[in-house]
Amino acid sequence: MEFSDQTILVTGAAGFIGFYLAKRILEENPSCQVVGYDNVNDYYDVSLKEERLRILKETADRQETGAFVFVKGDLADKECLDAVFKKYQPDIVVNLAAQAGVRYSITNPEAYISSNIIGFFHILEACRHSYERYEGGVKHLVYASSSSVYGSNKKVPYSTEDNVDQPVSLYAATKKSNELLAHSYGKLYHIPTTGLRFFTVYGPLGRPDMAYFGFTNKLVKGEKIQIFNYGDMYRDFTYIDDIIEGVVNVMKKIPEENENGVRYKIYNIGNSSPENLLDFVEILEDCLLKEGIITKKGERELLPMQPGDVYQTFADVGDLERDFGFKPNTSLKEGLSKYAKWYREYYGK
Ligand SMILES: NC(=O)c1ccc[n+]([C@@H]2O[C@H](COP(=O)([O-])OP(=O)(O)OC[C@H]3O[C@@H](n4cnc5c(N)ncnc54)[C@H](O)[C@@H]3O)[C@@H](O)[C@H]2O)c1
Repeated sequence: MEFSDQTILVTGAAGFIGFYLAKRILEENPSCQVVGYDNVNDYYDVSLKEERLRILKETADRQETGAFVFVKGDLADKECLDAVFKKYQPDIVVNLAAQAGVRYSITNPEAYISSNIIGFFHILEACRHSYERYEGGVKHLVYASSSSVYGSNKKVPYSTEDNVDQPVSLYAATKKSNELLAHSYGKLYHIPTTGLRFFTVYGPLGRPDMAYFGFTNKLVKGEKIQIFNYGDMYRDFTYIDDIIEGVVNVMKKIPEENENGVRYKIYNIGNSSPENLLDFVEILEDCLLKEGIITKKGERELLPMQPGDVYQTFADVGDLERDFGFKPNTSLKEGLSKYAKWYREYYGK
């Protein structure tokens, strides 16, 4: 399925991944309309979300790009979401809006139930009714799941064939629930769905609640950085451009019917190359030193594991490679140096 003349609803368009996805679609598809939907909440610095929306509007104002409409709304607001479906009649829906973060789900569980469970249910309902409401309805629903569904999986790399029935955080439980809900709606109402388990995404204009960004802010202030499980942790860090390449590929391919007659698919999108947390901090510091963001390396405070955290993440991306001939390949050094350049330009102003 090509994007020409399609209307694509991207929820979470003011967010990190949603922004890059909307931008890429606009730049490459002049006949496309992107409808961005986001409640622009203050889970982290809202000015970053406003900056992303500003860039999206600026991109759409250039010649030879697609059209961009932004609706400020909450997924939990069924009326608002339904009105968007009625008005814009999306062909493809990419649901990236969610309450993200593992640790925040310990202190603010309600946000996860509202955005990730009720919100996702509203997306499914809107897709379900799209077939009665307009010609063709939603041809493909793509949604964000997470590597956190693997919990404390012992077997590596993590495969989509592995059993993921033992989440260790509420966040992970909501993401796994999304996959289950998608399957049931696929069976009952024939909505083709693809769930994407993203592995620790990072890059310019990223999320300040994530380790690489939080460490940077602390290092800039000369504060100690806290490293959990005494640094004995591994993460499959995935650069944003690789994630977007994966999402765009997946969006164009409506899944085949599975053995239950459901058009349902799950992919991992990860770098498939886990890095030790202490090595990661070293690479980050080298990039920040190179850009003159810091003048010396920081002090580390080594602490025990936090509730909800997992020891490692490691993506098996065999399915992605087989179906799309693509696998993420940006090295941490390359990706973090792009991030550091952006950080200097953005905060140096
Ligand atoms: N970044 C990662 O490392 C990562 C890893 C795994 C999964 N994910 C998932 O990918 C998706 C995008 O993540 P991100 O990193 O861009 O996060 P993000 O927080 O930057 O983006 C999410 C956006 O959704 C919006 N939003 C949240 N709740 C909403 C609601 N109820 N209604 C409308 N808008 C709402 C937020 O304002 C935000 O702009 C999320 O579903 C996240 O759980 C991200």
